Parts: sequence; C-alpha cells; structure tokens
Amino acid sequence: MSAFLNETVLSVHHWTDRLFSFTTTRDQALRFSNGHFTMIGLRVDGKPLLRAYSIVSANYEDHLEFLSIKVQDGPLTSRLQHIQVGDKIVVGKKPTGTLLIDYLLPGKNLYLFGTGTGLAPFLSIIRDPETYEKFEKVILVHGVREIAELAYHDYLTQELPDHEFLGEMVTAQMLYYPTVTRQLFKNQGRITALLESGKLQTDLGMPQFDPEHDRAMLCGSPALLKDMKHLLESRGFLEGNTTKPGDFVVERAFVEQ
Ligand code: A2P
Repeated sequence: MSAFLNETVLSVHHWTDRLFSFTTTRDQALRFSNGHFTMIGLRVDGKPLLRAYSIVSANYEDHLEFLSIKVQDGPLTSRLQHIQVGDKIVVGKKPTGTLLIDYLLPGKNLYLFGTGTGLAPFLSIIRDPETYEKFEKVILVHGVREIAELAYHDYLTQELPDHEFLGEMVTAQMLYYPTVTRQLFKNQGRITALLESGKLQTDLGMPQFDPEHDRAMLCGSPALLKDMKHLLESRGFLEGNTTKPGDFVVERAFVEQ
C-alpha cells in the first residue's frame, strides 16, 4: 500500500511573490490532530518530492489547506508555486508533530508564536474548540518582515470573529497580535524583542509572561526557535514533547522549503 494519497488542488491564493496558500481535497482516511504537519509535494519524474508542511485547515474540515513560501531555486517550491486548480498533490498519510495542546501542561494563557509560514499550524489550533476549553486566553503572535506577508490577517480580524460556531469563543478569548519588522505598522519589532521589553503584554493588556500561568508554542525559522527557546528557558519555562508535557513546545520539522 502506498504511503501517500493523491489529492486535487481546489484553490490557490498568492499572498505575495514569496508566499502562497492552497486548498486540496481530503481523503476521509487522513486523520490528524490540530497542529500536526505532514509530508506533501509533487511527483517529479515519477518520484514524490516532499517537504514537511503544517496543516492550516482544522481536522474537522473536509478539505486540506497549506501555506507555503516560494523559493525560486527551491527543489519543491519552485514548482509548487505554479500549481493550478485541478492539479494533483501528494500528501503523506502520517501526520505528526509536537504542536499539540495535549503536550502542554494545564495553564491559563496559550501563546502561539509564529514567524512567516510558521503561522500555519496555529490556524488549525485556533479553530479547535478544545483550545478554548483548555485555555482562558489564546494569543496568536505573527511576526513577518512586511505587511503584505501577514497572511490571513483579514480572515483573523474579520471573518473568524463572525464564524458561525467559533465566533463567540474567538471574540471572547482570542487575541491576535501581528507584528512587522521591515515596514511601518501599528505593531513593530521582532517577537523576541517585544517579549523582552514587555511591550507585547502591555499592548495586549496581559500580565507579564510567566511559566506559572502561561504556555507557549513556537513555529518559525531555526534562528527564531533558538532565540525563543533561550528566552523561555531563561524565564523558567520547561520544554515539553510528545512523551512529556511541558510549559512550551517547538516544531522542529519546520524548515525552509
Ligand atoms: P527581521 O526582519 O528582523 O529579520 P523570515 O521571513 O526571515 O523567516 O522572518 C520572518 C520574521 O521573523 C521577520 O519579522 C524577522 O525579523 C523575524 N525573525 C527572524 N529571525 C528572528 C529571531 N532570531 N528572533 C526573532 N525574530 C526573528
């Protein structure tokens, strides 16, 4: 039996010349938890060419969604960026990953820190009703270089709060904090700097960041993960994993495509 499913592209959205997202059909046999990633890609000369992609869509939806960068000389994304509705995508049958609320110890506030396409798994997590049962506040922090890279900004600020089933929970419990580093914007600076100065909490009206009541998930570039892990550990946060829950979890499978 093949380890892969063949899905069909349903829609493609280009956010910028560096960033796009797309939806595909979903085989009902594909099961995953919100926050998981799976291997996806294209068949090139008959062979699957795959990379790890976090799943943007929630696990109860009947389609799959992914967010991708475009790297002009990247083996996969130089091709993937040209996909059209009706094209076939290879999807691995075994989603996995560390960014699950189950791998966090109970807490009050859940911080989701993502840079660039590291936003992807959090879109699934913030659409999981269980997230709002486990945490009082869910704070989604998305750091990008330029305003146009704030993918899903309008969905997060306009559509999701009006969502038929999730809207009420989202409005009462979710805080979205987009921040931009290379252009003028209402929130500016790297996530690490905003945490270190305490500006993030001040802007959000949240108490200072503390392992006693806060939990965190990290997804982004290796440099961000390294610096954030250091910052969290220096404040007494303990890292969790799939076998031992902790105060924060990190997705290391996420790499430049
Ligand atoms: P900066 O513009 O200062 O490099 P990228 O597109 O390179 O993945 O970056 C996405 C966002 O993550 C950018 O805003 C970038 O800021 C920021 N970033 C990159 N490295 C780090 C890091 N080590 N710590 C915090 N933020 C980072």
